[in-house]
Amino acid sequence: MLQSAANWLFGAAIALSLLALVDAKPWPRAPASASYIDQYPSSTTPITLPVRSKSFNIVDYGAVGDNVTVNTAVFNKIVALVAANGDGEIYIPPGIFVSGTFNLTSHVTLRLASGAVLAGSPNFADHEIIPALPSYGRGRETESIFRYSSLVHGENLDDVVITSDNGQGVIDGNGMGWWAAHRASNLTYTRGHLVELMYTTDIMLVNVELRNSPFWTIHPYSSTNVLVSNVTINNPLDSPNTDGCDPDSCNQVVIQNCVFTVGDDCIAVKSGWDNPGIQYGVPTTDVVIRNMTMHTPTSAAIAIGSEMSGGVSNLLAQDIRAFNCSSGIRLKSARGRGGYLRNLTFDGVTLNDVKTALSINDFYGQHESIFYDPLAVPIIDSIFMSNIVGTAITIPGDFQGLFDAKITNVAISNVSLAVVGSGSYTCSYATGTQHAVVPVLCDAFARV
Ligand SMILES: *[C@@H]1O[C@H](CO)[C@@H](O)[C@H](O)[C@H]1NC(C)=O
Ligand SMILES: *[C@@H]1O[C@H](CO)[C@@H](O)[C@H](O)[C@H]1NC(C)=O
Ligand SMILES: *[C@@H]1O[C@H](CO)[C@@H](O)[C@H](O)[C@H]1NC(C)=O
Ligand SMILES: *[C@@H]1O[C@H](CO)[C@@H](O)[C@H](O)[C@H]1NC(C)=O
Ligand SMILES: *[C@@H]1O[C@H](CO)[C@@H](O)[C@H](O)[C@H]1NC(C)=O
Ligand SMILES: *[C@@H]1O[C@H](CO)[C@@H](O)[C@H](O)[C@H]1NC(C)=O
Ligand SMILES: *[C@@H]1O[C@H](CO)[C@@H](O)[C@H](O)[C@H]1NC(C)=O
Ligand SMILES: *[C@@H]1O[C@H](CO)[C@@H](O)[C@H](O)[C@H]1NC(C)=O
Repeated sequence: MLQSAANWLFGAAIALSLLALVDAKPWPRAPASASYIDQYPSSTTPITLPVRSKSFNIVDYGAVGDNVTVNTAVFNKIVALVAANGDGEIYIPPGIFVSGTFNLTSHVTLRLASGAVLAGSPNFADHEIIPALPSYGRGRETESIFRYSSLVHGENLDDVVITSDNGQGVIDGNGMGWWAAHRASNLTYTRGHLVELMYTTDIMLVNVELRNSPFWTIHPYSSTNVLVSNVTINNPLDSPNTDGCDPDSCNQVVIQNCVFTVGDDCIAVKSGWDNPGIQYGVPTTDVVIRNMTMHTPTSAAIAIGSEMSGGVSNLLAQDIRAFNCSSGIRLKSARGRGGYLRNLTFDGVTLNDVKTALSINDFYGQHESIFYDPLAVPIIDSIFMSNIVGTAITIPGDFQGLFDAKITNVAISNVSLAVVGSGSYTCSYATGTQHAVVPVLCDAFARV
């Protein structure tokens, strides 16, 4: 690991000096293309944020932090100035700055001061309507092929940083109005995420708090090199579908050192939905999730799926603490999804007050269209779960594959779950091995 970090530093130094030779105005920038997984071999490796050549204080451009004035035009103006400059920092000083949705540009740092709040406008008309994602075919929750933009949005970018001083700045989605409208079935379009970056290389969300997201909180989509570190998410426990972080058709993703308190899955690793996802065909691969604390009474600490039609592979989740969750580790899929879940490792997990500890289940439902392909069955193979301790567990495990697509090679070892009541395992069309698993798993898991 040290060796590869040293190689990487050496390579970066050469790349920077080459850049200095060819670029008359070289700005310091994030080292592109080296994988974050190699750059951050451990969760304690210090993170270096790129330095920008110019900082734009939003107040100098007319923004008012009174929790009333809608500052969207100021954000759009500054983003254009950053783009013209080649790089830049958008600085939000202390205050409550309301905005509608806006797009970031490349080589940008959105930096919140300690005591700064970027708040989503409660007026839905301040939120742009944009096309649905290609791998979903339509909005996730309404039939429309349009959806609301995320508050902070970006497409086809390179090198985007969102951070705050001492982790004390907040992006607040003001989700209350969105949740109420959703519950009343009043929305024509799917709710917006809080932060969504699409087709982007080198994304960093570091030392910042996100709260009250209208829908999923952080949604990196079809992107490469994503780092989410020391991020706190606080969505009300009963807020609908407020997932924490959902990497979707992404590769090289690190999510670490975070505390997520949300109203749906804390992390849901995805890759598109049924036929549109199969056609889009971009997997999520090379994911590290480590040193995380999660709380979600309605959903899972770590979910994979249920949208996984482009495939998910090579994931390592380590040092995970989950309390008061409906599920601990939950792999969810369905007939019609297609795709695969392969080589996923969950190692070192502590579960307290969790209903279903471990689940791999192909009966999730929720289809993009009633015309989904029943022959498109998900392949689930090579799943590793080890060193797991649980207290106050209701159901130790649920493993249900399809008769024409068995779940295979699930290796479970050193698992000790204290089950309250008479809850037991459910197993069908699922095979693998068990070693030191308490309570003992179904016979389809050979003892080794
Ligand atoms: C902004 O004002 C609204 C009421 O208009 C309030 O609900 C919200 O909590 C305020 N935001 C912050 C961050 O204080
Ligand atoms: C933001 O980007 C989206 C997608 O490219 C686009 O539809 C929208 O009009 C952009 N908004 C602004 C203000 O540029
Ligand atoms: C990490 O976030 C916490 C708040 O959750 C904050 O206290 C701490 O200063 C942050 N670390 C850094 C290096 O900013
Ligand atoms: C839903 O729409 C109805 C009719 O427009 C409106 O009266 C009601 O206030 C809306 N409710 C919510 C929670 O948005
Ligand atoms: C784990 O994350 C917390 C922040 O949530 C941090 O304070 C702590 O240093 C991290 N530990 C390791 C080993 O990375
Ligand atoms: C399985 O995933 C791990 C990352 O968790 C990776 O290091 C390893 O190379 C993968 N194995 C294969 C056969 O792809
Ligand atoms: C966890 O849930 C239990 C039972 O619902 C409750 O008594 C306890 O207060 C919760 N703990 C936390 C930290 O929310
Ligand atoms: C079993 O897992 C627990 C919890 O992670 C760990 O403390 C213990 O050392 C493991 N035992 C073995 C034999 O690896």
